[in-house]
Amino acid sequence: MPELSVNVDHIATLRQARRAQEPDPVTAALLAELAGAHGITVHLRKDRRHIQERDLNILRSTVKTKLNLEMGTSEEIIRIALKIKPELCTLVPEKEEEITTEGGLNLSQDISRLKEVITLLHERGISVSLFINPDSNSIRKAHKLNVEVVELHTGIYAEANSPLEAATELEKLAGAAALAKKLGLRVNAGHGLNYQNVKKVCLIEEIEELSIGHSIIARACLVGIEKAVKEMIQLIK
Ligand code: PXP
Repeated sequence: MPELSVNVDHIATLRQARRAQEPDPVTAALLAELAGAHGITVHLRKDRRHIQERDLNILRSTVKTKLNLEMGTSEEIIRIALKIKPELCTLVPEKEEEITTEGGLNLSQDISRLKEVITLLHERGISVSLFINPDSNSIRKAHKLNVEVVELHTGIYAEANSPLEAATELEKLAGAAALAKKLGLRVNAGHGLNYQNVKKVCLIEEIEELSIGHSIIARACLVGIEKAVKEMIQLIK
């Protein structure tokens, strides 16, 4: 059974909508852990649209499971990551105008910057994950970059317009997961997963962890975060 890392960004989105003090993503993270989450994920964006440095600082000392920091590769964010020292840094492509991360990293571009960042994080003892599309080319390139983990982008599967398209995307995910595992990489997956589509992804046995945010937080707004997390864990099981 894959572990669940709960992404609490959108608790901060609600707080930032009013530039207020609440709801607090730190409290949400603690409640998610109490409900059984195996990890907490946050994305510190350059534009600080949701998670703030204050959140990260407090999460670092309060998260009892493991902290996964999603991030781009700007100097400022790397400096913060090196200071915070999360258990895992997941490198993602980040565009200012996007609503959410739009796809996996393009591992044909900016390789020298990626290598530099991976080395800096490794020197600090931080494991590195690359968020990539589920194709063999990306997996092989990630492997060459000497990272410990890949996070497979499940967004295309999640947004499939037909059962046939979803099945095709699942096959791609399964193939990519098998190759990554064969090459010695830990396999995480995430993006767009919800209470309806998560089960089939869990059947891919190489996937060790799912990173899920929006659907859990959306449900948490209506039924509470403990119930929302527990229901997701039940489905994963
Ligand atoms: N994984 C990555 C790399 C992401 O950027 C996101 C969105 O922040 C997620 C997982 C979670 O996606 P969702 O909010 O759709 O569950």
